[in-house]
Amino acid sequence: MSRILHRSLATDPPLATRGDGIFLYGPDGRAIIDGSGGAAVACLGHGNARVNAAISAQLAKVAYVHTALFSNEAAEELADVLLADEPGGLSHAFFVSSGSEAFEAALKLARQYFLEIGQPQRTRVIARRQSYHGTTLGALAAGGNAMRRAPYLPMLSESFSHVSPCFSYRFQASDESDEQYVARLADELEAEFQRLGPENVVAFCAEPVVGATTGCVTALPGYFRRVREICDRHGALLILDEVMCGMGRTGTLHAWEQEGVSPDIEVIAKGLGGGYQPIGGILAGRRVIEGLRAGSGAFMHGQTYQAHPVACAAALAVQQVIAEDDLLANVRAMGERLATGLTERLGNHRHVGDIRGRGLFWAIELVADRASKVPFDPALKLHERIGAAAHERGLAIYPMGGTIDGARGNHICIAPPYNATADNIAAIVERLGDAVDAACRDLANV
Ligand SMILES: Cc1ncc(COP(=O)(O)O)c(C=O)c1O
Repeated sequence: MSRILHRSLATDPPLATRGDGIFLYGPDGRAIIDGSGGAAVACLGHGNARVNAAISAQLAKVAYVHTALFSNEAAEELADVLLADEPGGLSHAFFVSSGSEAFEAALKLARQYFLEIGQPQRTRVIARRQSYHGTTLGALAAGGNAMRRAPYLPMLSESFSHVSPCFSYRFQASDESDEQYVARLADELEAEFQRLGPENVVAFCAEPVVGATTGCVTALPGYFRRVREICDRHGALLILDEVMCGMGRTGTLHAWEQEGVSPDIEVIAKGLGGGYQPIGGILAGRRVIEGLRAGSGAFMHGQTYQAHPVACAAALAVQQVIAEDDLLANVRAMGERLATGLTERLGNHRHVGDIRGRGLFWAIELVADRASKVPFDPALKLHERIGAAAHERGLAIYPMGGTIDGARGNHICIAPPYNATADNIAAIVERLGDAVDAACRDLANV
């Protein structure tokens, strides 16, 4: 019996004892392709020698200092690497240990900014349904993942409200053009600002490419420009949560680069450290930092392990490898292969309704019927069946239910490492295709 409180008390997950490149190995030595880097985390695969060496070197120098007393070279250099050219006006970094903590920091920085500039009435945050911003109570309140929110609803702050996501496969009307759908969503966001009183809104939060909750959903062209314009008109901040889709996952270092907007605060994590150390962070825009500078001059938020030297050294090495090996070009090239491969293998599958994504961040959405897009009975947990069938075939992927509204719908996320090869991509497509076939076939016997 395991003494770990695993995600399920009913089953213990298999042990992974070793990782090498795209492969994970169990105690029996069997190789499993890590086709999703866990939850889109392991962006360099496993056992990268350069990252491991950087971690060892940092440990040999100093493992820990408290940020109230000292800064450290790794954190300083990481911030310089990320922000030296102030991408999109982002000028300062704040590093923590996870995406949830980073999102909490973003919320608090946004709120504090308005206190500092003399707008204390701004307390409301607008986010989107079918989003995920983390598991801590503030991030959960902001998030729109109904399934994850439900048990804690009475404990979630009422400062947060939600509008529709830009999810064209599910929610764009059949007689609605892309422009009309974007306009409808913009009108809805504008109406929410008006309902709350635009002068009361701190920020609008969104994932540029929605990650696990809906499965790699990209916004329609122009959507984020409309969102940015609405925030600007009302003086509110735009917080973009790139914990899953950022740091190169979609083919550019920041997913917002492909949307023609930049945020006031960007939230990053997973691909920042590639899983070599737990690390997340926020990148804050000059406007926000200058607001604090002109006011109290201090961010009223801190954690014991912020800017942790070993975590920052790992992330610095990960970012250097990505840049030195020109891995974003590989993300784009292999992303095209993955898209083509998935489309050829599963594009006509009677139970695959949609194949979507960007860069090396792709998902398939399962449907009982393609024409009506009716999902499978959630009780069948088709995503878990596909996950298990893939595992049997030596492929680890990221399955999820509740795609449509937190209860209905199933999808599978695929997020190979940025250094994946064409052979890796072909193997992922083949094994995933076989797993989908097998799981759907088995449903007939349920
Ligand atoms: C978009 C997004 N934001 C925040 C989080 C929370 O990150 P963490 O699980 O590291 O706390 C996640 C995790 O999946 C995420 O995908």
